[in-house]
Amino acid sequence: MSAVRVGIHDLSVATAGHVLALDDLAAYDGTDPAKYRVGLGQEQMSVPGPDEDIVTMGAAAALPILHTHGADGIRTLFFATESGVDQSKSAGVFVHELLGLPATCRVVELKQACYSATAALQAAAGLVARNPAEKVLVIASDVARYELDSAAEATQGAGAVAMLVTADPALAEIEPVSGVHTADVDDFWRPNDSVNAVVDGKLSIVAYLDGVIGAWEDFRARGGAPLGEIDRFCHHQPFTRMAVKAHRRLAEHEGVALDEELLAVTTGYNRRIGNSYTASLYLALAALIDADDDLAGRRIGMFSYGSGSVTELFTLVVQPGYRAHTRGAETERALAARTPLDIARYRELHAATHLDSHADLQTAHESSGPFRFTGLTGRARRYARTDA
Ligand code: COA
Repeated sequence: MSAVRVGIHDLSVATAGHVLALDDLAAYDGTDPAKYRVGLGQEQMSVPGPDEDIVTMGAAAALPILHTHGADGIRTLFFATESGVDQSKSAGVFVHELLGLPATCRVVELKQACYSATAALQAAAGLVARNPAEKVLVIASDVARYELDSAAEATQGAGAVAMLVTADPALAEIEPVSGVHTADVDDFWRPNDSVNAVVDGKLSIVAYLDGVIGAWEDFRARGGAPLGEIDRFCHHQPFTRMAVKAHRRLAEHEGVALDEELLAVTTGYNRRIGNSYTASLYLALAALIDADDDLAGRRIGMFSYGSGSVTELFTLVVQPGYRAHTRGAETERALAARTPLDIARYRELHAATHLDSHADLQTAHESSGPFRFTGLTGRARRYARTDA
């Protein structure tokens, strides 16, 4: 086994430029607002404008990391997403260009619903363990979209996380043991001709909870730490209440009581961003390290779930001095900068998303972020940096 310590050296968050308050959605669809606030644990959801997508959010998340560390040593960019913008070209290649990364870099997109950022992180850790001089940029970026007026509508959202994976990480070391679980389930998927996910919400909750136990048992069988040696948990949060369900299932399975209060801090960003699929688990981690100043040396259990379904449980150990490297103020600024939407404009934006690439398109300039999706020419997507 490699003696190299590998993990997350930097972590940065971005989201879309608009926000819808779920109280407004509740008023519109005649739902008790407590169902969304308490039952789902959600307050708001980020909504992309016409010139924003997974590429612009992913590049915006990675930009501060490049400002701090430069691009030296980055030879791989993994882009994890459920909401890919092309059937062939990796969204990461657009990001590579927007960020001005060196040509000597491999770029690939990974897909498995909300899970693939964890596959990317583990693959990144393997590459760095093989050559500790190399760094890997992992980007998880998604727009979670369901049909208007469906039960799933309140669990939409949009967000991105970028992580720099290196040797001797400043934030969190990835421990080598990991538990995995795969089962073919039709709980959530998105056919090629649809911009909205197809979901059996109740089945997805059952499949998620089964996956938690499957991954936990594999983790333990492979020598992973017992529950008593895991100090905090971050669970994938399609809606933040799901973290509590996962925690309860694990506690029941092990026949112990687990402190649910400790989960609250991990929901700080997801409550306001909504579901961000691949980024969701890592938004939970960002919220935890940004808010808690007593994590040095503590072990964090990370539960990743992607419908369809794949689950992985692994652990991180937070590094001494991590507080000096967190980016909570930047994330708060991005959340506060979002433009509030009324229901009419939200529904207009939702309806405007389309798959047709046959006609050239120029998007309205609405985003105040550093990157824009400017439109389509010759069926190809075009992007621009707006702050250069
Ligand atoms: N006050 C407080 N809580 C309320 C409430 C009220 N007035 N009304 C309902 N609730 C609670 C329900 O009891 C339920 O909690 P529980 O699950 O702990 O029992 C919760 O709010 C949701 O209510 P429910 O009736 O089950 O919601 P729904 O059928 O409208 O759909 C989802 C909820 C999550 C299934 C739906 O939003 C969905 O399909 N989302 C997309 C898929 C997804 O996110 N899956 C997660 C796993 S990947």
